[in-house]
Amino acid sequence: MHESLPVAIVTGASRGLGSVVARILASRGYGLVLNATQPGPLDAAAASIARSSPRQQRVVAVGGDITDAAVRARLVDAARGLGGLNVLVNNASVLGAIGPLMEFDVQRFGRVFPVNAGAPIALIQLAVPRLAEGRGLIVNITSDVAHGAYPGWGPYGASKAALELLTRTLAAELREKGVSAILVDPGDMRTRMHQEAFPGEDISDRPLPDVTAPFWNWLFDQAPEAVSGERFAAQREDARWLQQV
Ligand SMILES: NC(=O)c1ccc[n+]([C@@H]2O[C@H](COP(=O)([O-])OP(=O)(O)OC[C@H]3O[C@@H](n4cnc5c(N)ncnc54)[C@H](OP(=O)(O)O)[C@@H]3O)[C@@H](O)[C@H]2O)c1
Repeated sequence: MHESLPVAIVTGASRGLGSVVARILASRGYGLVLNATQPGPLDAAAASIARSSPRQQRVVAVGGDITDAAVRARLVDAARGLGGLNVLVNNASVLGAIGPLMEFDVQRFGRVFPVNAGAPIALIQLAVPRLAEGRGLIVNITSDVAHGAYPGWGPYGASKAALELLTRTLAAELREKGVSAILVDPGDMRTRMHQEAFPGEDISDRPLPDVTAPFWNWLFDQAPEAVSGERFAAQREDARWLQQV
């Protein structure tokens, strides 16, 4: 019965880390609502994940920009159509311009803050009533740049630093509703975003996002309230998830 299955929303699920997390959730029996801007790659990813779903759970693709309120509403409606919402993974993100702040045209903050910090919070606002029905978990994807103060990475790093504070604040504010919120820093991974960050460089020494699978499988075994407010580094050699492999 589809109604009895857990349900997750994953943004930025057409490739990279988002598609890996979606596949892991599918392998664990979740019905899925997946999002990315470009419908073609998203539909292909959704179809591939649906084919490998062990319980033939439904996988719904909702194409569109996560900064668009109508897209966010469609995501939460689709989750409700699958029976509810247990996990929300805010993974979609943009790098924006890389370069020194002294040369930075402030207008070019552009989409970085709305996509990386604003849209996740707006989606959470819509999703919390559904998440509260089942001790739900919010997972916001961050980066070491939120702490690193790396030259050239100011705007992207600041957007992730904002997301981190917002997430920790949410974890405290939502506790009484029974909704949990955590941060996950996936570490360097060989993805399109990483290649954009190092244009023309050989990034073949970086691992594929599948390297984070042990962490995700451990995380989704935990009671959400036991991890709420925490920040995890998914590639850390941590006995909690490496013992499971
Ligand atoms: N790769 C790394 O080394 C690294 C390191 C630390 C943290 N991270 C974080 O990990 C997460 C995933 O990154 P990734 O490396 O897997 O990136 P990626 O391969 O470039 O994938 C990004 C995904 O987000 C979607 N997306 C981008 N803007 C969107 C928007 N406005 N609305 C909806 N979907 C949008 C993209 O699809 P469309 O193009 O179709 O929109 C794609 O599915 C990000 O939060 C990133 O900040 C990555």
